[in-house]
Amino acid sequence: VGEQDAQYVVSLFRSVADFPKEGILFRDFLPALADPQGLSIINQAMLAALPVEADKFDAVAGLEARGFLLGPHIASSLGKGFIALRKSGKLPPTTLSQEYSLEYGTSTIEMEENALSHGDRVLIVDDLIATGGSADAAAQLIQRAGGKVAGFSFVMELEGLHGRELLSEYPTSTLVSMP
Ligand code: ADE
Repeated sequence: VGEQDAQYVVSLFRSVADFPKEGILFRDFLPALADPQGLSIINQAMLAALPVEADKFDAVAGLEARGFLLGPHIASSLGKGFIALRKSGKLPPTTLSQEYSLEYGTSTIEMEENALSHGDRVLIVDDLIATGGSADAAAQLIQRAGGKVAGFSFVMELEGLHGRELLSEYPTSTLVSMP
């Protein structure tokens, strides 16, 4: 993203202290999607900043919930399909599930066991990387389902939580970085 576009998008994020737990500074990117220019910048920039070339992956997977708002646009723009990685208990059987810890607790994500063909290369998309816990869990699910992780695309990286180090073996792109 150009510096001006990045600054504009960051100006639209809402930061909320002590949510959802005391001591967490929650970065809400939904106001940037509500803004027509913000939405357009984010969608275009995600495509412009792919961590690997489009012919190096076969499908896009998004993490519930905010990855669902970004992944389908990337996928359909590139002629690929979208796979939903859901919070536990939402998908009918048969599913694969993976527990992980996040900045403020633990959670479990699931995917349909047969969502991938063997060897499918998958780009994983989410709004934000914090500790990298959910992203790492997503990578494990994709691999357990027979796929390969092609890379990760995020809008925002939270500095100081070392999420990128956890994903260091994968190509990763982020549009903006925030404390
Ligand atoms: N997910 C993990 N940490 C977060 C934070 N600080 N703001 C928004 N989403 C998050």
